[in-house]
This record gives sequence, C-alpha cells and structure tokens, in this order.
Amino acid sequence: MRRSYVAGNWKMNLDRQGARSLAAAVREHVTARTRADVALFPPFVYLADVVQVIAGASIRVGGQNLCDQGVGAFTGEISAAMLSDVGARVALIGHSERRHVYAEGDAAVQRKVARALAGALEVMLCVGETLGERESGRTEEIVRTQLSAALQGVAARDLARIALAYEPVWAIGTGRNATPDQAQAVHAYLRGLIGGLYDDGQAERLRILYGGSVKPDNAKQLMGMADIDGVLVGGASLQPEAFCAILDSGK
Ligand code: PGA
Repeated sequence: MRRSYVAGNWKMNLDRQGARSLAAAVREHVTARTRADVALFPPFVYLADVVQVIAGASIRVGGQNLCDQGVGAFTGEISAAMLSDVGARVALIGHSERRHVYAEGDAAVQRKVARALAGALEVMLCVGETLGERESGRTEEIVRTQLSAALQGVAARDLARIALAYEPVWAIGTGRNATPDQAQAVHAYLRGLIGGLYDDGQAERLRILYGGSVKPDNAKQLMGMADIDGVLVGGASLQPEAFCAILDSGK
C-alpha cells in the first residue's frame, strides 16, 4: 500500500510573513494521525523561514526548481547543494510552468533530476500534456517522452527518492480538473511505463500524484482511484483550510 502524498506548490505567491503563517497553519494540522506525507514548496527566498517554522514536524520542504549545474557562474540560479543546505529535502522538477513559460526542455529536466539525486534530494517530477496534445490523441506519447527522458541514467535504487506528478497543462490553474477516470488512465499508463523501464515491484512502490485544479471537493474522489497516490496542489494550497481539508482526503 502506497502512503498518500499531498504537496503544496506555492508558486510565486505570499510574502515572508504570509509564508510563515501558512506553514504554521499546516504544521498545526499535521499530527501523528495524519495519513498522508506532506510537502510544501515555498518560493526559494522563504525556504529557510518555512524550514524553521515546521521544525520537528513530519513535513517535507522543497524547492520549486533547481539549477542543472553544480556550482559557479550561473547568475540567478540555485543549486541542489544550496537547497539541502537550507534544509530542503525535495526538488520540484519539470513543472509545466517551467517547461512552457521558461522553455525548459526534456534535456534540462533530465540534468536537473540527475543533479537533485546526486545532491541527496528527493525529486517530484512533473509530466503532462497540453490541451492541443490531448485533443489530438497524443497524451500517452507526450508523457512517455517526458518520463523516459527525465529518467535517463537514473539507477533503480534511486527511484525510491522519486515521486511523479501527472499534471495535465490544461487543468493547471484553470478550475478545470481532469476527471478521476481521465487521471487514473494516465496514472496507470505511467505506472506501466515504470514497470517496463525498471520492474513491476518498483512500479508498484512509486507514488504518482495528480495535479491541476485540485480542491477540497474533488481531492477525495481523485485520491480514491487505484493509481492516484496523492495530489500536487497549487491555488488551493495557499488557503490553509482548503489545503488541510485536502490533506485529510488521503486514502
Ligand atoms: P493548481 O496548480 O492547483 O492551481 O491548478 C497545480 C500546479 O501547478 O502544481
């Protein structure tokens, strides 16, 4: 049985005090009885604050991105070592806003995954198709290409530090979530791909989260599907009550 995993991607929102209060509200809600693993992805500049606020609680903190290089003259970038240094445990990689707004391609995503793993971080790896790609019947081809590129060179033993997030681009921030059946079909497909790239045992253990307009009123149904092991939440993760309600919707 895979433990549910609920993550909040705060994107470029909040100020320092807002980040601290939101983290404190989540911390207050997460107890030993919480049935889901929890991760928060604040903006880089608030990582240390959030790490401080959640100290001692069972909550992961992660970076929304990281550099595909190790160290040096890369103005404006943040390395895997820097994330670890401030107490982040996870890196969110390949989010659709990085892919589509900042033109990050599969090769960059692959290098970032390798950097994160080499830096002892966990990875939350996002894949997903655009509306045009879905409507032209290319969803499987797109997620297969993204997944196999990102995992190139990833050893089987490192897969335990990776969670996938299926985020159809057309569902992100649009209020239009994939139906549980639509999401389940892609999740099952992704799990099958992992079985082929690694083995069935690894595929069974891998957690695959759904992301895209997750709200308290659709989270339970989504996470009730056989291959949906959690959710990656954007907009609703900024509202403590909504995020905590989603947290309580795990299997
Ligand atoms: P949303 O964002 O929940 O606001 O749709 C999800 C995401 O981008 O991770």
